Amino acid sequence: MAEWVRLCGLAEVPAPGRVMEAEVDGVQVCVANVNGVLSALDNICPHRQGPLGQGWVEGEAVICPWHSWAFNVKTGLAEFPAHERVEVFPLRVEGEDVLVDIE
Ligand code: FES
Repeated sequence: MAEWVRLCGLAEVPAPGRVMEAEVDGVQVCVANVNGVLSALDNICPHRQGPLGQGWVEGEAVICPWHSWAFNVKTGLAEFPAHERVEVFPLRVEGEDVLVDIE
């Protein structure tokens, strides 16, 4: 069963084309805004633990700021290199709050 927790306020989310870092219950989350649609991904890059939330958006991917691995914001799958991925957490907006399910 989904367990929704507040990640941040709607006023805090990044502008379209940008990302930010947030933390909830000890889990670091990368929040991405692709054309006004928000996504929540694991903030820790599987390559060398780079902070995805300090990277940037290209197309529908978040680019890791350290060595430019690219992760699709919907699937978490790496566009480069293949077979790598990060977790994508369900996200929803409720009133002025952004909620995620990190279970
Ligand atoms: S740490 Fe993310 S690409 Fe290397």
